[in-house]
Amino acid sequence: MAVSIEINTPDDWHLHFRDGDFLKETVPATARCFQRAIVMPNLAPPVTTAAIATEYKARILAARPANSSFTPLMTLYLTNDTTAQDIRDAKQAGVVAVKLYPAGATTNSDAAVSDLSHLDPVFEALVEEGLLLLIHGEVTNHDVDIFDREKLFIDRYLRDITERFPALKIVFEHITTKEAVEFVSGSSENVAATITPQHLLLNRNDLLVGGVQPHNYCLPVLKRNIHQIALQEAVASGSKKFFLGTDSAPHEQHRKESACGCAGCYSAWGAIELYAEVFDSLGVLDQLEGFASHYGADFYNLPRNTTTITLVKESWEVPTSIVLPNGNNIVPFFAGKTLSWRLHS
Ligand code: DOR
Ligand code: ZN
Repeated sequence: MAVSIEINTPDDWHLHFRDGDFLKETVPATARCFQRAIVMPNLAPPVTTAAIATEYKARILAARPANSSFTPLMTLYLTNDTTAQDIRDAKQAGVVAVKLYPAGATTNSDAAVSDLSHLDPVFEALVEEGLLLLIHGEVTNHDVDIFDREKLFIDRYLRDITERFPALKIVFEHITTKEAVEFVSGSSENVAATITPQHLLLNRNDLLVGGVQPHNYCLPVLKRNIHQIALQEAVASGSKKFFLGTDSAPHEQHRKESACGCAGCYSAWGAIELYAEVFDSLGVLDQLEGFASHYGADFYNLPRNTTTITLVKESWEVPTSIVLPNGNNIVPFFAGKTLSWRLHS
């Protein structure tokens, strides 16, 4: 008999479904192992109002596999024009969080916030309405080295926001550095972070040694191995401040294998298995359930899932290519690599 573990059904607290035909691919891939997911609003044009979020949610629900009870949790995209009333309307519509992208930080972020100092009334409304602030924490100044952008965001903006709005619940998304781990660990219980599989499994050598590896390119970019180790230590510690967020972000193969390749790793088809691989290699498989299935729900003040999934220690190979409904391909994250934990269906 193969070794197996059973955990409460996990949730993905950060991912990108995109829209249109993509949903037929991305929604079933995530519903495969997750009960809920925080859906990022960086569509083009972005999800900036409650009405747009409600319509987008309906399209996601329509793309669920038959009999799936998967539940998307919707977010709004902050712009320079977002008002406190937008936040109140979002709450009414069941939106659970808003996403702050500094303008130009990543895919479809050009419409985002160019001056954070105007956001105070929005932050106050978030506290009043009990919505979370999700942050892509990188400065975007051209003169700042890409490997230093997360650390500088903490020093220039994030510490200040947490000090001025101590009651605001903040998720520092997809953290990639030792400094981010230290900042979150040293902050109040209202500050938490998501961590992706790629930042736990890889470091910048996996992006740049032996030729550029476009399928390992994401933002924030992979950092040096001391940062990877800090992230691994954070999840191994069992701290409730760190929880699962894949940042699964599909881009068609030709857009990644390009002279100007897109940022994003499409990890949905191996998501929970990739994390199991990490936790197993760190000797802390017993911490997987808290990270994947409990701490995120607790932080969002949502009930923990009561159903379970089973992972079996059985090797399988991540597919090398996935065909989209439009006929184009996606190369998934970890394509062609062997994983040692398989989701028991
Ligand atoms: O690598 C990334 N891809 N990072 C992000 O912040 C956005 C995402 C996307 O939308 O493709
Ligand atoms: Zn993301």
